[in-house]
Amino acid sequence: MSEKATLEVNGKKYDFPLKTGTENEVAMDISSLRSATEGIITLDSGYKNTGSCESAITFLDGEKGILRYRGYSIEELAEKADFLEVAFLLIFGELPTKAQRDKFHTDIKAQSVVDEDVKKILEAFPKSAHPMGVLSSLTSALTAFNPSSVNVNSEEDMYKAIVKIMGKFPVLVAWAHRKKQGLPLDYGDKSLGYVENILKMMFRQPNEEYVQNKILVDALDKLLILHADHEQNCSTSTVRIVGSSHAGLFASISAGISALWGPLHGGANQAVLEMLEAIKNDGGDTKKFMAKAKDKEDPFRLMGFGHRVYKNFDPRARIIKKAADEVLEDLGIDDPILDIAKGLEQEALKDSYFVDRMLYPNVDFYSGIIYRGMGIPTDMFTVMFALGRLPGWIAQWREMRLNKEPIGRPRQLYIGSTHRPFVEIDKR
Ligand code: SDX
Repeated sequence: MSEKATLEVNGKKYDFPLKTGTENEVAMDISSLRSATEGIITLDSGYKNTGSCESAITFLDGEKGILRYRGYSIEELAEKADFLEVAFLLIFGELPTKAQRDKFHTDIKAQSVVDEDVKKILEAFPKSAHPMGVLSSLTSALTAFNPSSVNVNSEEDMYKAIVKIMGKFPVLVAWAHRKKQGLPLDYGDKSLGYVENILKMMFRQPNEEYVQNKILVDALDKLLILHADHEQNCSTSTVRIVGSSHAGLFASISAGISALWGPLHGGANQAVLEMLEAIKNDGGDTKKFMAKAKDKEDPFRLMGFGHRVYKNFDPRARIIKKAADEVLEDLGIDDPILDIAKGLEQEALKDSYFVDRMLYPNVDFYSGIIYRGMGIPTDMFTVMFALGRLPGWIAQWREMRLNKEPIGRPRQLYIGSTHRPFVEIDKR
C-alpha cells in the first residue's frame, strides 16, 4: 500500500499521507488540504466518506457484517458477558476481573440516588411528553445538581463522573416511564443486579412486591449489550462534537439522546412497531407497504431496514431476531406482529429494490418486538436504546477528551448571494 495519496489540481500535485488502521482500513489524512491548496476543502454530505477521528473502541465491517467492541465479537459478548462487563470493557478498554466488575457495580450503586428536586422538573412535564424529550432534559438537568465539570486529566475525577451517570441514568429512565404511567417515582434496590434493578424501578407496582422474571432480565441484558456502541453513528458523533467544545459529559450525553430520538436513527425502533401495527391494522398486506417504500413519490420508508454502514445483515439484527423468537416463546406470547415482521423481511430480501440497494434488517427491526413482549410501551423503545448506548457514549466522549481532540468545526461551500448593498425598507 502506498504511503501517500496524490491530488492533482490545475496541473499542481499535492501529496497526503495514508494511514492504515489495525484492521487494514486506509484513511487519507487531509488535515493540511486547505492550507496546502490555498483554500480547497472536501464536501461530503452526511460524512459518508469522511472519518472524524481515530478510535480504538468499536470496529465494524459493513460489507462483512462484523461488529466488535475492543476486539471482542458482538456474538461472543452477547452470549457470554453481562451488560456491566461490556460497559466496563467499552469505557476502560479491557474486560474487568470479577473484583473490578463488582467494584464498578458497587460504585455505580453508591451514585444511584437522584436529587429530589429533579422530581420537580419531571412534574412540570405533561404526561403526553415523549420520554426521549423528558430523558434528554433530565440528563441535562443533572448538570445543575453536579455543577463541577469533569477534570479529564484526573482518572479519579473521570471515574466519579462515569459511575455517577451510570447510576443516575437508569433512575431517570424509570422515572420517565413511571411519569407516563401515572405511577409513583421509584428508587432502585441496591441488593439487585444492574438490569434487575432497572426492571424493578420501571415496573414495580406500589401495592405489591416486584417478582423478577429471569427471561426478561436476560433479554434486557442482551439487548443493552447489543446497543452499547456502534462507532461514529449520528448520536455518538453528536456526543463527541458537543464534548469537543469541552461541554460537560452530562450535557454531551443529553445532546446525544436528542440525536438518537430521530426516526432515521434510534427512533426507528418505535417507528418499526408503528409500521408493523399499521400493516396489521390494514389487514396484513405487506406487499402494499413494500410498494410504498419503493415509491419515490411516497416519503414512507421500510423502517428498520437499511443502514449507513451495513451493506449486509446487521449482526445485531440476527441475534435479536433469534432472541425475539425465544423470548416470546418463553413468555408464551403469540404476537402476530412478529409473523408480519418475518414476512416483510422475507419479501424484502427477495425484492430487487432492496437487494440492489443492499437494504437489510438493522438493529431496530426486531428489537421493538421484544420490548413489546416485555411490556415496555412503544414510546419507551428509544429510551431503552439510549440506556444501552450510554456506556458507548461515555467511552467515546472519554476517548475524544483523552486524545485532546480539537473542537469540531466543519467548513462549508458557500453558495448564497455574493456581496450586495443594503436597501432601505421603503425602497424594497
Ligand atoms: C440506527 O449509524 C449507525 O450505526 C446507526 C445505528 C447505531 O447502532 O447507532 O446502527 C442505529 O440508526 C439504525 C438505522 C435505523 N433507521 C431506520 O431503520 C430508518 C430506515 N432506514 C433508512 O432511513 C436508511 O436506510 C438509513 C437512514 C438508515 C441510512 O440511510 P443512508 O445511508 O443515508 O442511505 P440513503 O438514504 O442514501 O438510501 C440509499 C437508497 C435510497 O434510494 P435511491 O435514492 O438510491 O433510489 O436506499 C433507499 C433510499 O431511498 N433506502 C430505503 C430505505 N433505506 C434506504 N428505501 C426504503 N426503505 C428504507 N428503509
